[in-house]
Amino acid sequence: MKIFIQTIAIALFALLVCAPAYSQHGQDMKKSLAPYVTSPHNVVERMLELCGVDGSKTVYDLGCGDGRILVAAAKKHGAHAVGVELSPKWAQVATDSAVAAGVQDRVRVLQQDMMDADLSGADVVTLYLISEANVRLRPKLEKELRPGACVVSHDFEIEGWKPRKVEKIMVYQRPHSIYVYRISAKK
Ligand SMILES: C[S@@+](CC[C@H](N)C(=O)[O-])C[C@H]1O[C@@H](n2cnc3c(N)ncnc32)[C@H](O)[C@@H]1O
Repeated sequence: MKIFIQTIAIALFALLVCAPAYSQHGQDMKKSLAPYVTSPHNVVERMLELCGVDGSKTVYDLGCGDGRILVAAAKKHGAHAVGVELSPKWAQVATDSAVAAGVQDRVRVLQQDMMDADLSGADVVTLYLISEANVRLRPKLEKELRPGACVVSHDFEIEGWKPRKVEKIMVYQRPHSIYVYRISAKK
């Protein structure tokens, strides 16, 4: 009986201590639209080139991970870049990479759910999510992006949109697809 009560007490304690962490984690997991995987650097470069990124453009990377797209856009192309990242850890890594690359004046990292981000300032949006995430994001892109904005997606098409261009490149014998879209004039 004593052992039974002790076991119940330990189980209750574990539940009380762990529940907030689980619920916080659970909430983030629910918002997560893709796992952390990086785009290879030459894929990043081609994504930026295909959208004509230059010093006059503002690039938004939705789910910016370690910030490599932001740093490439700012350092190599002179663009302004905004990263939106759900994970506090990766948002911090992205911020630190921008500082290490000396482009912190042109790079901003927002630690938030991309579904809550204001995209109206974007000329270019880069994505490396999954198909279902693109389906969820599409109405937001259609509503908030200005006509002419370029959306470029690594490996996952945006269902329901017709790409302007599809390019395939090999990186270490693995094919990568790049889908390029333009937001048309609002009807
Ligand atoms: C496949 S990685 C892409 C990283 C980077 N864009 C690249 O191409 O190298 C997807 C990133 O999206 C982030 N993410 C997932 N769901 C998100 C959400 N709802 N809001 C913001 N970021 C999210 C993940 O934490 C992860 O860092």
